[in-house]
Amino acid sequence: MYLGRTTLSKFLIEQLHELDDNGQLAGLLVDVAAAVKSIAAMTAKGALGGFHGVIDNTNVQGEIQKKLDVLSNDALIDACEWGGMLAGMVSEEMEEPIQIPAEFKRGRYLLNFDPLDGSSNIDVNVSVGTIFSVLVHDKDTPPTVEDFLQEGRRQVAAGYAIYGPATMLVITVGKGTHAFTLDREIGNFILTHENLRIPPDTSEFAINTSNERFWEPPISRYVEECKAGKTGVRGRDFNMRWIASMVADVHRILMRGGVFMYPRDTKDPAKVGRLRLLYEANPIGFIVEQAGGAASYGRGAILDHAADSAHQRIAVILGSKNEVERIERYHAEHDSGADRPYASPLFKDRSLYRSEV
Ligand code: F6P
Repeated sequence: MYLGRTTLSKFLIEQLHELDDNGQLAGLLVDVAAAVKSIAAMTAKGALGGFHGVIDNTNVQGEIQKKLDVLSNDALIDACEWGGMLAGMVSEEMEEPIQIPAEFKRGRYLLNFDPLDGSSNIDVNVSVGTIFSVLVHDKDTPPTVEDFLQEGRRQVAAGYAIYGPATMLVITVGKGTHAFTLDREIGNFILTHENLRIPPDTSEFAINTSNERFWEPPISRYVEECKAGKTGVRGRDFNMRWIASMVADVHRILMRGGVFMYPRDTKDPAKVGRLRLLYEANPIGFIVEQAGGAASYGRGAILDHAADSAHQRIAVILGSKNEVERIERYHAEHDSGADRPYASPLFKDRSLYRSEV
């Protein structure tokens, strides 16, 4: 029944056969997939697994850790630290980079991950996910934090798993974006969606509108225009969706188009956005660009933005290319004052946020 179908390992061997790394990257991605399978098994057990609820700890983000956050973090470390492919890891759940224990060989890759994205959804049985990004470490010494602070453009692989009605793994190694579905009976990821393409136009947007009063004007302008639908400047009706799991919202966009926004806002002056650059925005940005979409922080491509700390946050606007470009244009028009031509020339090109992320 499965004859002729492409498994993840076969696909990776084919995609990476020209890479001169002794199969290390393919091996690493297969190890990540092994962790994903154990996280899928835990999430699928739901309340029966005893994994629901919180533990008495907050993570480096100041967020209360769920049991499954910690177990998923352990699953990834356990699956990936021993194989000789990695030089180190950064996890959302751990303040400092994770070093490879001395008993294992150190390899040439760095792995950044969010073990369980959207974890507020765990206890309510709504889709959650795992996000990961792979970089090269071209030194013989163990990595320091600075070694992880590379631009997203330098990622050699990235992906996410979505634990939904089906578990899927979506991967890019810079040759398109491809999705695999976990066949639980045979325990393999099977290629089911080759070369995903995000339609350039869309009539669907995703944003947490409860933050509206904290948004910058370009985002308010865009969302107001969408909401005005046929009666406004867009001349057509828009639909809105918000799952509060980035992977689930992004997955929908990969499948049928749309635009996802977690923009810069003033809700908490200490945070320039909600999502983390190294293990959320960069990998998802890579996946989206490889599927023909765009990923921006409003004033430039996410993948061109160097990180200044392991857990740095950034504004995220991504998905259907023409919509993302429109939102970028609204930012530019706001920063130059072109969106308010009758304003005083003194304030025209002044914006509180102009040159920042
Ligand atoms: O921490 C990341 C995350 O859980 C994303 O997966 C999701 O898009 C977002 O936060 C949800 O934020 P909010 O709680 O503001 O809806």
